[in-house]
Amino acid sequence: MTKRIAIIGAGPSGLAMLRAFESARRTGAEIPELVCFEKQDDWGGLWKYTWRTGLDQYGEPVHGSMYRYLWSNGPKECLEFADYTFEEHFGRAIPSYPPRAVLHDYIMGRVAKSGVRPYVRFDTPVRWVDYDPATEKFTVRVKDQKEDRDYSEIFDHVVVCSGHFSTPNAPEFEGLTSFPGRVMHAHDFRSADEFAGKDMLMIGSSYSAEDIGTQCFKYGAKSVTFSYRTKPMGFAWPEGFEEKPLLTKLVGKTAWFGDGSSKQVDAIVLCTGYQHHFPFLPDELRLKTNNRLWPLNLYKGVAWQPNPKLFFIGMQDQYYTFNMFDAQAWYVRDIIMGKIALPDAETREADNLAWRAREEALENPFQQIDFQTDYVRELLAATDYPHLDVDGVAALFKEWEHDKEHSILGYRDKSYRSVLTGTLSPQHHTTWMKALDDTLPVFLGMPAAA
Ligand SMILES: Cc1cc2nc3c(=O)[nH]c(=O)nc-3n(C[C@H](O)[C@H](O)[C@H](O)COP(=O)(O)OP(=O)(O)OC[C@H]3O[C@@H](n4cnc5c(N)ncnc54)[C@H](O)[C@@H]3O)c2cc1C
Ligand SMILES: NC(=O)c1ccc[n+]([C@@H]2O[C@H](COP(=O)([O-])OP(=O)(O)OC[C@H]3O[C@@H](n4cnc5c(N)ncnc54)[C@H](OP(=O)(O)O)[C@@H]3O)[C@@H](O)[C@H]2O)c1
Repeated sequence: MTKRIAIIGAGPSGLAMLRAFESARRTGAEIPELVCFEKQDDWGGLWKYTWRTGLDQYGEPVHGSMYRYLWSNGPKECLEFADYTFEEHFGRAIPSYPPRAVLHDYIMGRVAKSGVRPYVRFDTPVRWVDYDPATEKFTVRVKDQKEDRDYSEIFDHVVVCSGHFSTPNAPEFEGLTSFPGRVMHAHDFRSADEFAGKDMLMIGSSYSAEDIGTQCFKYGAKSVTFSYRTKPMGFAWPEGFEEKPLLTKLVGKTAWFGDGSSKQVDAIVLCTGYQHHFPFLPDELRLKTNNRLWPLNLYKGVAWQPNPKLFFIGMQDQYYTFNMFDAQAWYVRDIIMGKIALPDAETREADNLAWRAREEALENPFQQIDFQTDYVRELLAATDYPHLDVDGVAALFKEWEHDKEHSILGYRDKSYRSVLTGTLSPQHHTTWMKALDDTLPVFLGMPAAA
């Protein structure tokens, strides 16, 4: 009997899974029956921008964490699909750091072409997944929001592609409840415009803090103060920015920091990361991890160690994104289709722990990039995914790190060479700091709509 596969989520990871099977089908292989459940009303995952925060139109937690003026924070050449280049999509070379709408257009252009949309059931959140050891099948219970109806179906495999940057990690700080200004988590940040003229405080020292802080500055914030728990980002910040140790308390509008200093602030954004949150999985099937390069219990980063009929895609902290999800999806596909044999539990665990030991010894971003490069390389070598020069991509990531060190407000004006087409990206017509209108037509220099 044809196997049935449930894919949870139609973001870049779930779409990679659908495309992996579809590419096998196009080579003449008989593929399993696929059902992708997506709680939003369209595909794209985080890239499907929404103005909503809090709850969606059905009362479900809003998935979106992206904001209006978000631009790629890494060169597009590092995330290019090996089987669909930016040049193919846009018909010409485009600059290296596209805004959200442009990247969204690229990701969606590829899946639209692949004809996988009929596999997706939209407006359908997965409520619960159960595994029955007697039948060796999963029961997936979902809610059809449009029909206002719960139903369950039986599957041989489940692939969890629900992302891990949507449920905020939001710590408490003394004085937050009485702070007389705006307080939010990065998950709820949408538009920088409202902070023009304000003194901003960002808690956290990672990508969200850096990006939301610089973006608010770009759109007119008076000052940006970053407050770190472990260590400062350490960029050569221009005037208007400063880094402080962790916030100890707020007294009215005054923020006090670990070094005894203080600063008056108007608004606070908790850029304190996200939780891996799977409310639809029982304990024995649930991945429990923080945001890191090698979560435990996932053989080759994808197969659930206690029950490898269950898979997770995209659960790692991410240098690589879209092309890593592809590598994972092609690998999962080949396990499910019997082309890759899983070793016994002991061998899987030894492999898993060896990767974790290597991850724990990593000392700097360059070593982290090499680590994830080796991981992607290993997956790619096992499948028929089109050739991707991962060493070339790793070199681009290192160039990017260097460019950020050199100029945190100017690195997005740099250009990189695609490892797939060999083309050096053109300069954008406007520097990032001055490109206030970042809509797709303006970015691409197209004539304005009438
Ligand atoms: C603010 C921000 C900016 C980022 N910027 C970049 C960038 O510039 N470049 C880059 O490469 N990466 C970026 N990322 C990383 C991002 O993780 C990936 O680009 C990508 O979106 C991850 O894809 P995913 O499919 O794993 O998860 P997601 O994109 O989160 O998609 C998961 C999907 O699962 C669905 N889902 C969740 N729960 C359920 C359920 N119970 N039932 C059914 N469906 C469900 C969601 O609705 C969603 O559609 C950014 C992340 C954040 C948070
Ligand atoms: N433009 C873009 O492309 C863009 C913009 C934003 C985000 N992103 C993506 O979004 C993802 C998530 O990034 P993120 O920055 O939100 O999360 P993250 O990388 O997981 O970082 C979380 C940050 O929160 C801090 N933190 C956690 N708990 C804390 C606490 N109790 N008190 C103080 N600080 C605390 C951490 O500090 P420690 O160091 O002490 O742990 C860390 O600095 C990344 O993949 C990133 O690439 C992309």
